[in-house]
Amino acid sequence: MATRGGFSSRLGFIAAAAGSAVGLGNIWGFPAEVGAGGGGAFVLMYLIFCFILCFPVMVTEIAIGRKTQKNPVGAFNALGFRKWNFVGKIGILSGFLILSFYNVIAGWAFGYIFEMATSNFAIAEQFSAFKMQVFKVGGYGLVFMVVTAYTVSKGISGGIEKAAKFLMPALIIMMLVLIGYSFTLENSGAGLAFYLLPDFSKINGVVMYNALGQAFFSLSLGMGALITYGSYVSKKDNIISSAALITLADVGVAVLAGMLIFPLLGFITEGNIGDGQMATAGPDLIFVTLPKVFEQIGSFGAVVGAGFFVLLCFAALTSTVSLLEVPVAYVVDEKGIKRNRAVWLVAGFIYLIGIPSLIGNGYSEFFTNFITYIGADSPTSFLGFIGSVANDSLLPLGGCLIVFFAAHVWKKHNLDAELSVGNPSYEGSFLQKYLNFTISYVAPLALGVIFILTVLGTFFGIHLI
Ligand code: PFF
Repeated sequence: MATRGGFSSRLGFIAAAAGSAVGLGNIWGFPAEVGAGGGGAFVLMYLIFCFILCFPVMVTEIAIGRKTQKNPVGAFNALGFRKWNFVGKIGILSGFLILSFYNVIAGWAFGYIFEMATSNFAIAEQFSAFKMQVFKVGGYGLVFMVVTAYTVSKGISGGIEKAAKFLMPALIIMMLVLIGYSFTLENSGAGLAFYLLPDFSKINGVVMYNALGQAFFSLSLGMGALITYGSYVSKKDNIISSAALITLADVGVAVLAGMLIFPLLGFITEGNIGDGQMATAGPDLIFVTLPKVFEQIGSFGAVVGAGFFVLLCFAALTSTVSLLEVPVAYVVDEKGIKRNRAVWLVAGFIYLIGIPSLIGNGYSEFFTNFITYIGADSPTSFLGFIGSVANDSLLPLGGCLIVFFAAHVWKKHNLDAELSVGNPSYEGSFLQKYLNFTISYVAPLALGVIFILTVLGTFFGIHLI
């Protein structure tokens, strides 16, 4: 077992797990959801869900991983519940699917570094054409996947941890510099106000349920990524405080991303941010609206624009690394394939599965208009479909099953015992009672409901809320 490797320190684990959490979901997804979900009201719900509901799920995943020192499938076997290893299998499938399209988007972001650096702001109007240049953007995606695979092939402490320890601080510094700059722009205050002042009348069922879905994805929960990372954590570490720091880092970066993007939106809309003239949601926010902002900025535009996309790529890389590590750990542990070989095999395979997501953006008619859900007016692309299946449906399902399993099958006292290792004052604390309650009832119920609502609403057009 000595060959399995592990994080060299608690900080290394926290950096890597925070790196997994901080990704496109924070810098691209979060502001886009805030824009669509009515500003500050969404932010408030998101914060509540991260700490109240998602944090207990994170603690559970890390505890299962550290207890068993196994990948998500092996973990259920090691605890003696082979029948439950389907939950790990769902997780590994989710990892495959998510990485397959996540890498495509990361490839776009990577390509945009060069577009911005050469002041090609006209790309804003040509985003659709850009996505259709499949050999070019496919090449960017390939580079991204190779860098991801190379990092994972170097192992836990020598690759994943080392990369995260450099990329995460670099990301935060770049972000702060860009935020500082965005605050100097005209009408930045109007953007910030839209972002930070909650309008409680906007909170409804849909905002709540989008906020929970976003929180869950953003914290990398539900597919066993943190079971896998947890399996490399030392028995000396305090799981609870590590999880708290990871959550704080993730939420912190999402909040900072908003503080960067909304002032920019305030600037470009001349203070009329809520008027719907500019895309403030979806992929267009980052790839269409922001380049227009960078163009308006003037002489600094190329630097700020390129800097922004470098930042986005740094965030994406620590996430793609974790997405790849999950199936790799499975193949290494369960199939006995050597790490290096496993990494390149799995990465190559996932890149291939991503091809329909790559070409389904205008290039291939079939994959662009891949499926029309029942009750929907227009078709969804392959990329959108995989997103709905994996991110929106399988992650909440996986999360629901993991917490249910921990509380009711593996049993709470076993979970408590693992959480007490490295944290002797846990047993009998208020936190223990709180976590027990949420893990046993609130989290499985809320996640189960989200799963059902998503499946009914997305695929069948039945909107219960
Ligand atoms: N948390 C990542 C993001 O916000 O972009 C995405 C992600 C990574 C989800 C790893 C799930 C995962 F296991």
